Amino acid sequence: MDKMLIVGGVPLRGTIPINGAKNAALPLMALGLLSDQPLVLDNVPTLADLTTMELLLSEIGSVIKRVGKKVAIYTPSIKSFEAPYDIVRKMRASILVLGPLLARCGRAHVSLPGGCAIGARPVNFHIDGLRALGATIEIENGYICANVPGGKLTGAEYTFPNISVTGAENMILAASLARGETCLKNVAIEPEIGDLLDCLQAMGVQVEGKGTPTVRIQGTESLSGAFHKVMPDRIEAGTYIAAAIITCGEVELENINISLLPTFVDALRNAGATIEPLENDKIYVSMSGKIGPLSIETSPFPGLATDLQAQLMALLSVSSGESVIVENIFENRFMHVCELARMGAQISVSGNRAHVTGVEHLSGTSVMATDLRASTSLVIAGLAARGETIVSRLYHIDRGYESIEKKLSECGAIIKRVREGEAHTASGTNKKIAG
Ligand code: EPU
Repeated sequence: MDKMLIVGGVPLRGTIPINGAKNAALPLMALGLLSDQPLVLDNVPTLADLTTMELLLSEIGSVIKRVGKKVAIYTPSIKSFEAPYDIVRKMRASILVLGPLLARCGRAHVSLPGGCAIGARPVNFHIDGLRALGATIEIENGYICANVPGGKLTGAEYTFPNISVTGAENMILAASLARGETCLKNVAIEPEIGDLLDCLQAMGVQVEGKGTPTVRIQGTESLSGAFHKVMPDRIEAGTYIAAAIITCGEVELENINISLLPTFVDALRNAGATIEPLENDKIYVSMSGKIGPLSIETSPFPGLATDLQAQLMALLSVSSGESVIVENIFENRFMHVCELARMGAQISVSGNRAHVTGVEHLSGTSVMATDLRASTSLVIAGLAARGETIVSRLYHIDRGYESIEKKLSECGAIIKRVREGEAHTASGTNKKIAG
């Protein structure tokens, strides 16, 4: 298993290109199941989660070809209507094939994802919503066994009891091939859903209400092919903004519009960071001195993304005062706290509330990534810490960040990926790494 070695204390300076968004690319790839014409996606990052989705779609019947950042998905017919446990357990977003399978072939057998490190994460809204469109669904032997009597879903109204991103995406995908109109209420307005709706429109589906909590979709007989560029990854961008600030650096992010990070940017500006939009979808970030403390809480878009909570916590662990972070989306998303504490952070947690007392400095040590975003919070902490930080279980990072060590080292960071047993330090001197 790879590890990341970081020697902290170097201000980041340079330009960081932002990739296409993982969480937009995943539902867009699942959309490829709905059409028998090719869907070509551009700006698709190279990430473990997207490789997992490619594998799943290939098993279902898609022919997938990747050239650079372009991925072509062609699904002339559905060969298997199953998403097996072995794939779903690796990536919860596999649930996104449920809606398309039901819509295209009236049948689906999808493993229940189960809980994960950040919470229980049930899929009851997906199931109830698809039932509203006429599917009969039973849970048997850990699988969602779904059928559509008569073979075709029927448009209906469904109100989400709470905001769910992939829940909304599954319903939108299913409704596109349903008979008649579907009206979805209390729909998540995350930009990735807007990206999916744009692509659906390009494939000939009539959509109303993009960017609002009420979305209407006119189901169609068949979807055409399309070419679509995946939107930028706002979470990757936010991660590098936090990294630039914690190192008192000065960076320019490319291919990202500041409007995708409204609450995050406002909060950091209030705490003393300079974050400004530049022409042509660029963002300028700079910081001198210590970041101020913040009182923040996660919420659905346009609120502060839960996917940036861990990175902000790393940053606030060296702020000039007392911060409070409330996690409102997932019940167990503080796994990084213990690891940050090993680096000297002073954080106490009570329920969904973390109290962070800024310390003078963090100190490098061995830490373990527990989930995707938690892992980058440790990298961010390592960039500022005194001495060497070794982050293990890097497979979490590889699910969502392409070339993170390359992007950071090009901005001056001393950071290096090493294979288990390889004897190197980030600064290049030989040293045996403890297994
Ligand atoms: N929920 C239910 N029932 C459902 C669905 C969700 O109770 O049927 C609850 C969840 O347990 C959670 C809340 O609703 O408490 C929100 O969950 P949501 O369904 O919105 O999460 P998700 O769709 O599974 C996506 C992202 C996550 C991101 C969340 C929140 C993708 C592939 N994943 O997950 O991204 O944290 O929305 O914004 O889009 C990540 O990239 O690291 C990541 C975890």
